[in-house]
Amino acid sequence: MEVIIMPTAEKAEQLAAAIIADALRQKPNLTLGLATGATMENLYHKLAEMNKKGELDFSLCKTFNLDEYVGLPAEDRNSYRYYMNYHLFDRINIDKRNTHLEDGMAEDLEFECAEYERLMEEAGGVDLQLLGIGLSGHIGFNEPTSSFSSRTRAVNLTPVTMAQNGPYFDPAKGEKMPTRALTMGVGTVLDAKSLLMLVTGTRKADIIAKAIEGPMTSMVSGSAIQLHPDCTVIVDEEAAAKLTLKDYYRSAFANDPKWDAYRNI
Ligand code: GLP
Repeated sequence: MEVIIMPTAEKAEQLAAAIIADALRQKPNLTLGLATGATMENLYHKLAEMNKKGELDFSLCKTFNLDEYVGLPAEDRNSYRYYMNYHLFDRINIDKRNTHLEDGMAEDLEFECAEYERLMEEAGGVDLQLLGIGLSGHIGFNEPTSSFSSRTRAVNLTPVTMAQNGPYFDPAKGEKMPTRALTMGVGTVLDAKSLLMLVTGTRKADIIAKAIEGPMTSMVSGSAIQLHPDCTVIVDEEAAAKLTLKDYYRSAFANDPKWDAYRNI
């Protein structure tokens, strides 16, 4: 695993955008795994900006999102389909038929999840999977105790996640946060050819330190990234606060030729 500490969230988002952009330039028919959450919004806007300027082409790109709430239709402003359309897909030249999220409205959720796995396989697997981390330690919606070999499935959300994402739902408008979601499993995530995790802000300092430097445990599903042979984690200074090997991460980023093109971001 490589950990890169950037001075600010803005720089961290810029670096993540540059890495994704380069991967797409190298492989125009890239299969991208995508994540939602406040952390990703600016990153998506940056990618959209590059697309608008003609620097990036999504016409052959396929995407698979990590997760979706059960019971929210695509038009619901709290659904992850809505989020993705709003923050990325409607702003870039991607063919919407190549964008995939689990259907949380499917009648047969088990079939929907198996079908999602099949579609990913048919696409040749995910090349680059973008990840955030929830305060419960989840990647996707893999809550504590999710098996490291879990696949796409329906899950129940923990109180920590209900508290983290609950404020997006406005009871005055009759909105209620679902207690269930469909998510790629930890094992599904680990099948991606490479992982890129982006984590910013003070409130994530404890959980990201556990995921990167703590023992691997299903109690922090984010710690499963330690098993992946090609994983980069980008954090800002605030999120990096509790890491013990900060000096090592800084010197590795400063000296590894792999990062030459990215140091001046
Ligand atoms: C949701 C998503 C996760 C994401 C997390 C972080 O719960 N299911 O995939 O990592 O949000 O959200 P935020 O970036 O808002 O902290």
